[in-house]
Amino acid sequence: MNTATTTTAPPDLTDPAFWAREDSHLVLRELRLRAPLWRLETETEGPLWCALSYALAGEVLGDANRFSSERGSLLGTGTDRAPAGAGKMMALTDPPRHRDLRGLVLPFFSKRKTAELTERVADLTRQVVRTALEAEETDFVRDISTAVPLTVMCDLLGVPDEDRDHVVHMCDRAFLGNTPEERAEAHQQLLPYLFSLGLRRQSDPRDDIISTLVTHTVNGRRLPLDEALLNCDNILVGGVQTVRHTATMAMLALTRHPHAWQAMREDGYDPELGVEELLRWTSVGLHVLRTARVDTELAGQRIRAGDRVVVWTPAANRDETEFEDPDRLRLDRTPNRHVAFGWGPHYCIGAPLARVELASLFGALTEAAERVEVLRPPVPNRSIINFGLDSLTVRLHARGGTD
Ligand code: HEM
Repeated sequence: MNTATTTTAPPDLTDPAFWAREDSHLVLRELRLRAPLWRLETETEGPLWCALSYALAGEVLGDANRFSSERGSLLGTGTDRAPAGAGKMMALTDPPRHRDLRGLVLPFFSKRKTAELTERVADLTRQVVRTALEAEETDFVRDISTAVPLTVMCDLLGVPDEDRDHVVHMCDRAFLGNTPEERAEAHQQLLPYLFSLGLRRQSDPRDDIISTLVTHTVNGRRLPLDEALLNCDNILVGGVQTVRHTATMAMLALTRHPHAWQAMREDGYDPELGVEELLRWTSVGLHVLRTARVDTELAGQRIRAGDRVVVWTPAANRDETEFEDPDRLRLDRTPNRHVAFGWGPHYCIGAPLARVELASLFGALTEAAERVEVLRPPVPNRSIINFGLDSLTVRLHARGGTD
């Protein structure tokens, strides 16, 4: 049985090692039951208010008047450095600027657009699953959970066919490079590519996100090219990293909960409910950061303008006041108003697409594979931005095949 040691001060939640602990949810529950909001002193990020309850997640993320995104929506830039893109990138703006930027690209993420993409996603997914079935072993992260979202994001952004291999190679290194330095360098190479494509699309626009961002106006003014491309980059990274970590962590969870894998193959299984539960369970976007704009109060504590408040998503998504029996993976859970996609004005713009991608993946896997066997210990990615794996080596055993 897991045991948690409770101390008067919370453990350092900004250390990825905490999230890799077997008892992290138990520790969070004990803390939350004692207080939903904790003040944490950290070495790299300075003092932080840590919100651990579902109610506080809604209160903080739902109120852009009190809690701003402009000084960053993620930890990692240290105490007093605003991130690149602050005030320019959709995720790092407050209303009304945020509304204008989001409105520009929203049509690409509408229910109708996502429905149009469903068949394409299903085809791509069946292909990667078929290839994996034929292999002795497969890296689930690289070959299954990254491949489809990356191709779909290239489609939506408007990466021309002739550039696909090059872009996929750069993204592979940017997302899956062996060292943080290699990833950062590969990411740096993506930006000039997006820049040159943006220039081409200014004079020859198509029906895609890059063309929209480089040609449309916001309040009568064209977005400067660097702002347009920062937003493309944000959408590309947002659309690939989160889906791949969710798919991977969900797969790992299903190998550890065979009853849930089995439930997915039974009559009456509702993939929409199943995906919501996998999103709640995995909560890979570990945190969302805000900065208080004004002196205010939260959970009876005085928060000063400039204080940073972190909503810890996995804690909110296991809050027993919102979720009955929160530590059980129940694929038929309803209602399931999890905050894995955030809450309020910055609610994930790609949520409908992510849902389609995840439903398609687990539909194709359960249809084709009897079981998925983990061949080697999973390699954690040690990140507090998207908590996942760098690699998960598996073998897919075909349905009706001989093991
Ligand atoms: C399972 C997959 C996903 C998860 C867990 C996830 C998680 C999140 C979360 C928690 C937020 C809120 C951030 C905040 O409040 O500051 C967010 C926003 C965002 N997501 Fe996702 N996301 C996923 C998939 C996607 C996809 C597929 C795309 C793009 C195609 C995408 C693009 C974005 C963008 C651009 C924002 C900023 C929206 C805004 O500021 O208005 N995400 N996502």
